[in-house]
Amino acid sequence: MKDLSGFTLLPGRLDRTAQEALMGEVLTAARAAPFHRQVTPGGKPMSVEMTGLGPLSWITDAGGYRYEPTHPLTGEPWPSMPAILRDLWVELADVAVPADACLVNLYREGARMGLHRDEDEADFRFPVLSVSLGDTAIFRIGGLKRTDPTRSVRLASGDVCLLAGQARLAFHGVDRIVSGSSRLVPGGGRINLTLRRARPA
Ligand code: SIN
Ligand code: FE2
Repeated sequence: MKDLSGFTLLPGRLDRTAQEALMGEVLTAARAAPFHRQVTPGGKPMSVEMTGLGPLSWITDAGGYRYEPTHPLTGEPWPSMPAILRDLWVELADVAVPADACLVNLYREGARMGLHRDEDEADFRFPVLSVSLGDTAIFRIGGLKRTDPTRSVRLASGDVCLLAGQARLAFHGVDRIVSGSSRLVPGGGRINLTLRRARPA
């Protein structure tokens, strides 16, 4: 499904075998770069746990929102970006530069993400590519203004979506996850991976 705004949903783009392989890569990476709850610049802990893959990942702390080359707790570089993600970017992003950042979000039961725009990247001509694993998310997407009408989209395990064109700067968030709808994530919940080009081309 591609709508006029540039939001594309590819349901079941990753089959079960690919989902399990990617899940395994994320678990291995998370042993070196643990998921943790970050704090907003205003001092509020997020309900989503995060880590990252690739040259850069997104972080938030009292110093603000930004991309960093190292994990804030370990001080080590982020684990490398799995080939399956690099390949998805090459196939779907429709741009000549590789992704240089992958934020990995872990939603345990009750976690959510408020409406926001992804706007810490250098160049919005590059899309955001999102991969969902595990429990279904009730995702919400609206327009360029926070007050624009929104619609709700279910993102199930294996679904891939792209925020490109106008939708690149659309407000979006996760209202909730449907706890127990998948058994892919050990301990339950949902993992979302978002690939981005954070630096200029
Ligand atoms: C995000 O906007 O960073 C996450 C979106 C999602 O979890 O599907
Ligand atoms: Fe986002």
